[in-house]
Amino acid sequence: MADQQWPADLGPVVCVVGARPNFMKMAPILRALRAHQPAVPALLVHTGQHYDKDMNDRLFVDLRLPHPDINLEVGSGTHALQTAEVMKRFEPVLDSHRPACVLVVGDVNSTLACSLVAVKKDVPVVHVEAGLRSHDRAMPEEINRLLTDQIADRLYTTERSALANLTREGVAEERVRFVGNVMIDSLLSNLELAHPPARTLETAGIDAALLDDANGYGVVTLHRPSNVDRVDTLQPLLAVLREVSEQLPLVFALHPRTRANIERFGLGELLRSPRIALLPAQGYLEMLGLMAGAKLVLSDSGGLQEESTALGVPCLTIRENTERPITIEQGTNTLVGCDAQAIRKGVAEILAGAGKRGRIPEFWDGQAAPRIVADLAAWLLARHALRAA
Ligand code: UD1
Repeated sequence: MADQQWPADLGPVVCVVGARPNFMKMAPILRALRAHQPAVPALLVHTGQHYDKDMNDRLFVDLRLPHPDINLEVGSGTHALQTAEVMKRFEPVLDSHRPACVLVVGDVNSTLACSLVAVKKDVPVVHVEAGLRSHDRAMPEEINRLLTDQIADRLYTTERSALANLTREGVAEERVRFVGNVMIDSLLSNLELAHPPARTLETAGIDAALLDDANGYGVVTLHRPSNVDRVDTLQPLLAVLREVSEQLPLVFALHPRTRANIERFGLGELLRSPRIALLPAQGYLEMLGLMAGAKLVLSDSGGLQEESTALGVPCLTIRENTERPITIEQGTNTLVGCDAQAIRKGVAEILAGAGKRGRIPEFWDGQAAPRIVADLAAWLLARHALRAA
């Protein structure tokens, strides 16, 4: 379709981001929309769910994301308030821009809120990272995933298990395309730019000698409400991390929720050790550098399970379940829950050289975004032609 133009009356693809894990997924999609022939016009809408320097601004710079065309500035709130506020503020965007579709990624509150607004206005919903299921409905993300997939018109999946989940829930197979993982597009295209771990620690005013331990170092993140919102869960978790740090120094990047809870519960003392580097939430290139050089990753994050698999670094996931089973079956991931004994055992195995090496899952090859955009553009143009006929 060289030299052709995107039909003016078809409208742009409205790309929605809201929270940190959306940014690394959307960056390669925006690039692929621009690179497509004909270029697909995109409108980047930020809901403002994450807004501060550490959770937002640094990632936009690192990922070379364009400034959002529209920022809804919803900020924090309860789930209901946050979701409702996004919906209220997103609706006029669709009224004034009449888009070809709304493209959402992942499973955060903004993903569901914008999908709901779009479907009720007869604007097609496109979901990237569809079909992942933890089967744990106590997780807010699981509800967001289930509902978004039910109302999406086009669903792009990162692993083959997703299709079975969607089929079980009655989603028609013809709406689903297996394209691979856009998160890995970002990882592969940024790996060379990753910041050296020593520089990251020094920037935070921490002596980087900690990284030179004979065992190497581990990277820790924690932010799930189920792990950090209750003192009787968080306290034993931090206690076992302290214990692990005696064998393996730890670099702990603190999500604002976790930092606030550590203060609220008076648990700071547990982490006060020369073998634990406490950092604020990190930028993308800092985190990538830290993970790439690590002996292991200990985390409750969804994204880190995938990134550690792509980097071949063993990951112990502090959750009872995962919506990303391929990271266990093929990758480097192991579920350890909040169980201190399982964490100790997992760390001991990795330090003994028996950690998972894993292999790279199918289509985690850096080309997921071009695959999505090729399919999406063809689908939108065909729909447009059909409507005009
Ligand atoms: C959200 C996502 C989660 C994702 C995580 C990554 C939902 C339901 N959850 O959880 O899937 O893994 O983002 O971080 O959408 N805060 C700040 N600065 C910010 C944003 C938040 O300090 O820029 C603090 C606020 O105190 C806020 C709390 O973090 O109340 C939680 O933020 P919120 O967006 O509600 O959820 P996350 O826990 O970040």
